[in-house]
Amino acid sequence: MEQVTLDKIKKLFCLEGKVAVITGGAGALGESIAAGLAVYGADIVVTGRTIATLEAAVKGVEKLGRKALAVACDVSKEADVINLVQQTVDTFGKIDILVTVAGIAKRYPAEEFPAEDFQQVMDINVKGTFLTCKHVGRVMKEQGFGKIITISSVRGFAGHPGGYAAYGPSKAAVDGLTKQLATEWAKYNITVNAIAPTIFWTPLTQQVLEDEKLKQVFLSRIPLGRAAVTEDMVGATVYLAAPASDFVTGQILYVDGGCTAG
Ligand SMILES: NC(=O)c1ccc[n+]([C@@H]2O[C@H](COP(=O)([O-])OP(=O)(O)OC[C@H]3O[C@@H](n4cnc5c(N)ncnc54)[C@H](O)[C@@H]3O)[C@@H](O)[C@H]2O)c1
Repeated sequence: MEQVTLDKIKKLFCLEGKVAVITGGAGALGESIAAGLAVYGADIVVTGRTIATLEAAVKGVEKLGRKALAVACDVSKEADVINLVQQTVDTFGKIDILVTVAGIAKRYPAEEFPAEDFQQVMDINVKGTFLTCKHVGRVMKEQGFGKIITISSVRGFAGHPGGYAAYGPSKAAVDGLTKQLATEWAKYNITVNAIAPTIFWTPLTQQVLEDEKLKQVFLSRIPLGRAAVTEDMVGATVYLAAPASDFVTGQILYVDGGCTAG
């Protein structure tokens, strides 16, 4: 094999010199994704609604020898998102990777779902993802390069008896947005893909973890027989952020132990 090809193959998962923005960076998955991308070489911007909650993520990245910046940003507010993008560009001069992790879940029986809770889920999960992609996308368009990874869920693929009348549709909208942006922005060399995990045990899924019967229902639907763990999520994110996935766009990558396969 030619040396030039071998050199490219060796760098398929290299993120050195890249700048990644991660929304929801103080959350369970956000913090691991920040650390994961830093391990493979990226400098990291973590965002959350308050700076204080981002300290651990920043320290984790710096310990790995990468640069880290924390910016307060409520993703459902456009002015906050504009400020996030401006601060990132002022500090690092570019944005190569965006991972939209910020999200919430609320569960009620559909017939009792409060309209304001439904709206809040949509505002954060759908509008928040859209606004972040919109403003980071503008920078990526100028650069002629970008990798956007949205965080969806298997609940965007299929319904579930557990009260997901807002969360499920919000993640289905994230899937739709991912495919839309992938087709619209391919001409700018921006790839847009979603990761749709099944359940992890994090604060977001505490309600399920505390209900042994419901927990068993969830596990019984996963052929590999366990919940997802940090490494599952980091592996998928590094792949979609790295040159290894340069010809992959508009895809929903199910990190789900096989539960959407059958
Ligand atoms: N935990 C799971 O089992 C699971 C499964 C599938 C998908 N997901 C998705 O993964 C993502 C992360 O989930 P997690 O389990 O780490 O949850 P988490 O609650 O630990 O983290 C979510 C983060 O989003 C932040 N956030 C909430 N609203 C925000 C807003 N308006 N602006 C900015 N940040 C905001 C929270 O502060 C928190 O840091 C979510 O999008 C979730 O839907 C999680």
